[in-house]
Amino acid sequence: MKHTRKRITVVGAGFVGSTCAHWAAAKELGDVVLVDINDGAAKGKALDLFEASPVEQFDARITGTSDYKDTAGSDVVIITAGIPRKPGMSRDDLLSTNSKIMKDVCKGVRENSPDSVVIVVSNPLDAMAYVALKELDFPRERVLGMAGVLDGARFRSFIAEELKCSVKDVQAFVLGGHGDTMVPMPRHCSVGGVPLLEILPKERVDALVKRTREGGAEIVGLLKTGSAYYAPSASAVQMAEAILRDQGRILPCAAFLQGEYGIKDLFIGVLCKLGGKGLEQVIEVKLNDEERAGLTNSTKAVQDLVEALGKLKV
Ligand code: NAI
Ligand code: 2OP
Repeated sequence: MKHTRKRITVVGAGFVGSTCAHWAAAKELGDVVLVDINDGAAKGKALDLFEASPVEQFDARITGTSDYKDTAGSDVVIITAGIPRKPGMSRDDLLSTNSKIMKDVCKGVRENSPDSVVIVVSNPLDAMAYVALKELDFPRERVLGMAGVLDGARFRSFIAEELKCSVKDVQAFVLGGHGDTMVPMPRHCSVGGVPLLEILPKERVDALVKRTREGGAEIVGLLKTGSAYYAPSASAVQMAEAILRDQGRILPCAAFLQGEYGIKDLFIGVLCKLGGKGLEQVIEVKLNDEERAGLTNSTKAVQDLVEALGKLKV
């Protein structure tokens, strides 16, 4: 029987993937298929989550598998497969292992869900999104990377904490690659519509920017084993929701740029309009000299990673 609900495949049933499945099912975005090379982990977590549905009152079928045939016809695929960062390890150390995994995964996605919109989460993010686009051979509208929603959410959390106000009233975003060179945009932050720079002294804003840049490492340092997953999975699912519900949300995402900001053929975090077709528009923001220099520096870091990819034998 053909499924009529939306179908979301989440590849990788680890911390980020299983939590993605949790948010997606709880929001009733559709049926969720959890895929992992560890068949038992995928099946066990899917069944456990399904058994939560009568308690939490959500309608979503959640199944686990290691066979991509079970994912056929997915509308959105979130890829979280890969190894996470360990303390002292940079995201770039993950390049070699995770690009092999990404190629494997994309083959299964391309063959079984050729019309899906794919959201890449695995690190190093901007390079893994590049590998995915090449392997999938999908148009750029249907391959996106998740980083900016997370980095922006961290920035927003820190601003709300500093001002002792609701996170709901804080707007902020981050451009550039998902790494230490990311470019938080304080000039474009507002709290209840009031520019942040009118509310907080510059040195406090600078401290929050620094904490945002180091936000991933802060969690890794605390957890000791593995990296963040609640905020990353919530962020990936917000992107999925924007697509599945054709919301036209404006969110910072890694998109394959084609001349925007003078950048070509690289995944870089920019503001995007997300709707039913995936990426519907890249929104170019006017940058001042400092922001422009930050974006150039971050682009160079992503470019170096992509060049390193070319030198790998995978
Ligand atoms: P995890 O280790 O808990 O889960 C990874 C899962 O991938 C494991 O269950 C593993 O069995 C599975 N896997 C490995 N090879 C596979 C394959 N070929 N096919 C299917 N599944 C496979 O790791 P976690 O914490 O869930 O992180 C996943 C990835 O997400 C990491 O690369 C991490 O660095 C990245 N990440 C990215 C963020 C971002 O902002 N873009 C934020 C947080 C994590
Ligand atoms: C993060 O920012 C590890 O990239 C991941 O938490």
